[in-house]
Amino acid sequence: MSRLPFDSPPDIQVRLADLRQQIRHHDHLYYVLSTPEVSDFEYDRLFTKLQELEEQYPALVTPDSPTQRVGGSPIDQFSKVKHDRALLSLDSVLDVDDVQAFDTRMRRELEADQVQYAVEPKFDGLSVELVYEEGIFVRGSTRGDGVTGEDITVNLRTIRSLPLHLQQHATLPKRIVVRGEVYLRLPDFQELNRRLTERGEETFANPRNVASGSLRQLDPRLTATRPLVVTCYDLMVSSGEPFSSHWEAVSTLATWGLPIPTLRQLCVSIDEVMVFHQDMAEKRDQLPFEIDGIVVKVNDRSFQDRLGEKSRSPRWAIAFKFPPRKELTKVRDIVVSVGRTGALTPIALLDPVEVGGVTISRATLHNVEEVARKDVRVGDTVKVERAGDVIPDIVERVPIPNETRHAPFVVPDHCPVCESAVVQEGPIYYCTGQTVCSAQLKGGIEHFASKNALNIEGLGRKTVAQLVHQHLVQDLSDLYRITQEQILTLEGFAEKSGTQLLSAIEQSKTPSLERFLFGLGIHHVGSHVAKILANQFGSLDNVMAATEEILLQVHEIGPEIAHSVVTFFTEPRNRSVLIQMKDLGVTVEEISVDDGTRVKPLAGKIFVLTGGLAGYTRQDAKQRIEQLRIQIVNEKEFSYLLNRSSIEGIRKDG
Ligand code: IVH
Repeated sequence: MSRLPFDSPPDIQVRLADLRQQIRHHDHLYYVLSTPEVSDFEYDRLFTKLQELEEQYPALVTPDSPTQRVGGSPIDQFSKVKHDRALLSLDSVLDVDDVQAFDTRMRRELEADQVQYAVEPKFDGLSVELVYEEGIFVRGSTRGDGVTGEDITVNLRTIRSLPLHLQQHATLPKRIVVRGEVYLRLPDFQELNRRLTERGEETFANPRNVASGSLRQLDPRLTATRPLVVTCYDLMVSSGEPFSSHWEAVSTLATWGLPIPTLRQLCVSIDEVMVFHQDMAEKRDQLPFEIDGIVVKVNDRSFQDRLGEKSRSPRWAIAFKFPPRKELTKVRDIVVSVGRTGALTPIALLDPVEVGGVTISRATLHNVEEVARKDVRVGDTVKVERAGDVIPDIVERVPIPNETRHAPFVVPDHCPVCESAVVQEGPIYYCTGQTVCSAQLKGGIEHFASKNALNIEGLGRKTVAQLVHQHLVQDLSDLYRITQEQILTLEGFAEKSGTQLLSAIEQSKTPSLERFLFGLGIHHVGSHVAKILANQFGSLDNVMAATEEILLQVHEIGPEIAHSVVTFFTEPRNRSVLIQMKDLGVTVEEISVDDGTRVKPLAGKIFVLTGGLAGYTRQDAKQRIEQLRIQIVNEKEFSYLLNRSSIEGIRKDG
């Protein structure tokens, strides 16, 4: 029997390649450029043809075929992905003066009269990393903590504006890593909520929640039903020729077929940036997607390199945000919440109100002075505002003529959680309960386990609350004593999730010094200061040994931080918790490289050894002191430290 020539596989391969190419071309026109050339009918015809042929020749199906966007079945969990380069965050400013100051700083540091800036909208979605190899989309991940994210490739593949296959182009490098934002257009958001309401399902509060929820759930078939879009605003890594400017790099992404922001602009000076910001603020409400400001980036890449980065953000870019949206509502009650530092924060419980797409039912009143200054009382009408992810804020009270008002708010004289006495320090009131106050304990543990600290997955607010409530955890070291049996007594835990939590706790036993210091929740030691301390002192023992005088030698460490660090580490309870943690196997990583800038904590200190020490000759003890360079608190602790094997690692460079 004779076969028709196009039935033979080589011809079929050509036909398949041709159909795929046509579909890709139309996808690009429709989803990326929004300029379709063919009717939906014609597009569907091509797509159906491709599906039919692939069904007939399953061996010829390729992973980058347009029919293969949606994977088969749900996955168990997302694997972790270490980013090629850290996905940094941005410092944000609201005032024109701060933008001027940014420009002044840039010009001064670059010794230039004028600096060119590339400006783009600040998309309000979820930041993602996309990796292409040989033009094929091979991996996509969430930002995570900036260093490590989650592999969400299967979900990202379902986004139609994300090309699975880049366009053939002479300039296309073998491997590129691109950063972009996944978001939802407002009409699609409204339509999605309409459909959900119709089906009696819960609706989403804002488009951003849809984007992050859809990308972080395990069934790609569900993600495929969500009309997500992506736009790319940075080429982070490329195996090809480097680009001399941000503008050129992003423009080139478009020639490879990637969607890029259409509303971007190259500004020759900061004045033009101001105009762009103004212009976008005016257009904001008419745009079909949510933006919360603009991003201002030094255009020249060699300038970017010269400016470098801080711990979590580049020095060469800022987010210039829009003034937050404001709405009116009523105060139902004013309650007091106790934070991890023991500070009491008055919180206003509000009649729920939607501000910029998010329903708000609580707002912080910061401190007692603020409540008095704004004169906010129960029953008052107030203006609330929301700025991005920041906790909603009460801007002011709106007086209503002839209203009868409640009495002014008074701070309780006892902690509402543990009933310990409340003391005042400046405008802040503190609960004196410290270790007995479960609110402080919960806050401290949540912070210790949080993403930028020890990143213990599964140890969220609810679990921490139960652990504290059942007295299973009374200080941080208790985390490392928890058993599977104990976890199983907690609500919401079964064998598997219990094992997962235990293994997450186990994995947290070798934290970096920076994360550990941040996690301890020392007053004034945020992630930036923690990083400085880690780099300067290299080991936990060295930080613990540092005096205020020595800390003050470190650039960016002022008296407040120095005092707070020393107070924390001289507090016997804190030292005891740290020693117990070590006993339980927590080994804080040391930084072994010293670029010569380190402070030597015990430089200039004199030790006198008298009497005997069990197990040590005088020579040994002398050597160990030199190695340890530890501030000796008392003899018991000293001999304890000398006997600890983990101390062996401390370098001798003093
Ligand atoms: S650039 C090192 N450009 O804003 C440069 N970010 O607040 C870092 N974002 O996590 C990012 N639109 O998710 C950049 N045009 C834009 C952006 C943008 C939105 C997000 C991004 C980032 C966050 C920082």
